[in-house]
Amino acid sequence: MPLTLNTALNDLQPSGIRRFSALAAQTPGCISLTLGEPGEDTPERIAARVQVGLDAHKTHYPPNNGWPDLRLAICARMAATGLSYQPEEVVVTSGATEALYATLSAMLNPGDEVIVPMPAFLLYESVVRLARATVVPLATDETGFQITEEALAASVTERTKAIVLTSPNNPTGVCLSRESLDVVARLACEHQFYVICDDVYDQLVYSDDFVGFAKAHQELREQTVVVNSFSKPYAMTGWRLGWLAAPHHLTDQIAKIHQYAISSVVSFTQDAAIEALATDVTPMRESYRVRRDFVLARLARMGLSCVRPDGAFYAFPSIRKLGLTSEEFCTRAIIEDGVALVPGSVFGCEGHVRLSYACDVTTLRWGLDRLEKFVAKLS
Ligand SMILES: Cc1ncc(COP(=O)(O)O)c(C=O)c1O
Repeated sequence: MPLTLNTALNDLQPSGIRRFSALAAQTPGCISLTLGEPGEDTPERIAARVQVGLDAHKTHYPPNNGWPDLRLAICARMAATGLSYQPEEVVVTSGATEALYATLSAMLNPGDEVIVPMPAFLLYESVVRLARATVVPLATDETGFQITEEALAASVTERTKAIVLTSPNNPTGVCLSRESLDVVARLACEHQFYVICDDVYDQLVYSDDFVGFAKAHQELREQTVVVNSFSKPYAMTGWRLGWLAAPHHLTDQIAKIHQYAISSVVSFTQDAAIEALATDVTPMRESYRVRRDFVLARLARMGLSCVRPDGAFYAFPSIRKLGLTSEEFCTRAIIEDGVALVPGSVFGCEGHVRLSYACDVTTLRWGLDRLEKFVAKLS
């Protein structure tokens, strides 16, 4: 037997985001607006709870799906956003990353199709490919990053197993409208496919009329999986903590993947996760809102059009009129003017670049000054 590896790995590329972050890091003095994580450290009162877990000797194997009190706290947090789940329907995971991996791995058979509205977070495609299934990209850049009935209907086949919704979205920051959610619900019901809601940014929303799919369409609860994370709202990216919630018949199966992949998340961080859920994220959200407004004003001044992001901490301006591919734009911006962004092509959407405003305001201002200089040169 030749010493080959899983051939599904052949097509998997290293993350384009990391590639541009690395180029920025190698370029002396470069300001990086690439990373999708809060610049702030985890609030002290959350971090301090790790000691409580250690003092309680939570250094042994915890329950596979997470400590019951954490799952209860997650249910309370979901109830506050109008979602009703029991602790038995929740699995605490190693970030949303593992929640998505376990969910898709549990659902997919070779040849199945997963509809992914584009632009999208790269992870979905890699996980789908590892399961020997196929991503069906649904372009949204001509419709304000919203999902139309026509486009979705054209993407559905008899092999469609699921759709992944990310609202607010990475990389656009756009929230799906009620119309988009209704279209998905209609077709998911008619053609019977799962809806995976990647809700990792649902605490970072700047508009009053936001509604998530799971709340808007509770009649589809039996075929909906909600994925969430501690990473973004509580500045806990390094803790690797997230969760998924779904009806019993799904979590029972998804939990098998979780159990055989990682067994459980770290035991003594789970009290800190409970503390995080009790944290008011309003100050963080308001601070991002200020940065969002600042970024939009600066992009307008540069003459770059940008669909208004109503959540997360990204803007996704169009660079079409500048005549460069997004790779060329981002590479030259680093080399010539010392500012790093991520090409839209990385997210399956050419003609745009992603700018993260999760860094501090001073860095953001400097970065935008440099971007303005670079854009002025190209215009
Ligand atoms: C849309 C989206 N989903 C999932 C993740 C992964 O989050 P976690 O840190 O919880 O694994 C990210 C991280 O950037 C993201 O942007």
